[in-house]
Amino acid sequence: MRVTARVPGTCEKEMYIMGKTILDYDTVALDDADSALVIIDQTKLPERIELLRLHTAEEIWNAIYLLQVRGAPAIGVAAGYGIYLLAKEIETDDFDEFYKQFCTYKTYLDSSRPTAVNLSWALNRMEQVALRAGKEEHCAVAQVKEILKQESIAIQQEDIAICKAIGEHGLSLVKPGDGILTHCNAGKLAASRYGTATAPIYLGQERGYGFHVFADETRPLLQGARLTAFELQSAGVDVTLICDNMSGMVMKQGKVQAVFVGCDRVAANGDTANKIGTSVVATVAKRYGVPFYVCAPTSTIDWNTPTGADIVIEERKPEEVTEMWYASRMAPEGVKVFNPAFDVTDAELITGIVTEYGVARYPYTESLQQIRQQMQSESK
Ligand code: MRU
Repeated sequence: MRVTARVPGTCEKEMYIMGKTILDYDTVALDDADSALVIIDQTKLPERIELLRLHTAEEIWNAIYLLQVRGAPAIGVAAGYGIYLLAKEIETDDFDEFYKQFCTYKTYLDSSRPTAVNLSWALNRMEQVALRAGKEEHCAVAQVKEILKQESIAIQQEDIAICKAIGEHGLSLVKPGDGILTHCNAGKLAASRYGTATAPIYLGQERGYGFHVFADETRPLLQGARLTAFELQSAGVDVTLICDNMSGMVMKQGKVQAVFVGCDRVAANGDTANKIGTSVVATVAKRYGVPFYVCAPTSTIDWNTPTGADIVIEERKPEEVTEMWYASRMAPEGVKVFNPAFDVTDAELITGIVTEYGVARYPYTESLQQIRQQMQSESK
């Protein structure tokens, strides 16, 4: 059953009350006929599946900032479709004027979240395509818009194939019956179809590997509890939810044979920014000899950022720690709060970085460059 509603001053919503499961929906989709970016509102999960239809720059910016669409690859896909839809509405036949307005939208969308590099990666990719078509090939603005549409679709299609390739490489690192721990949500809801850190899990599920998955709840925004546990359970995966401070215990008890996490930005030396708490999991995994793998589409590797110290870490509102998800405020009024959304895991703690081209090993300064060369030679 589908119910649509538009509350004045807010974006259009569609609510699916029964029938399909979360796996039947695209996390991000383009409805070109309606000039809408359609996303699953992830802040409403798992209670209900609600789709948002975003039309304006402000609606798209807010959806990214509020984590209605989140996860590095999904943010990249949303940014690609978003900038195309905004470009489509620019009313001019003059390419220079078109490009000026395009850049204003691009800068605005790029300011919505600072850490996930896929946001600026996708926007830069779209800008380069527009420039090449408009400036070098002298295409008419209408043609430039069509080329932008095709590029935004390509970003999503590539993401699906990349996640599957990451899954194959990741699956080669584990055995049937293994226990796998993951942090935050680097699943279907954060990327396309298989997700990144969940891709080996989903592929293993298809092939009867019988994995036992531990999902960290992931304070403060509970992406592990609300999203990872939800999507894996919907897929029939054996998933157990644990609080963040329990990962040491399950590793010590020998219940975990590998950790797979996603990432928001990998520096050129392999230092990796991911959801806050990831570096704690990596440190504990090292202590108990559990391999710790980062699943990273090459779009998440920032070749221009030398080390993790150069990664900008987003800080978010104190209310996310003191009251969000609780029936009433649970911390004293006026208490000081520190709420970084991500932390950086040192490269030495990472057993392997699983990309669509294969698994890079420490020291990453060299192995990631090899991946880059492979990437460049395949794109020729
Ligand atoms: O703040 P979020 O929910 O966007 O953080 C998401 C993560 O940290 C994910 O692990 C990361 O983006 C990888 S998603 C494939």
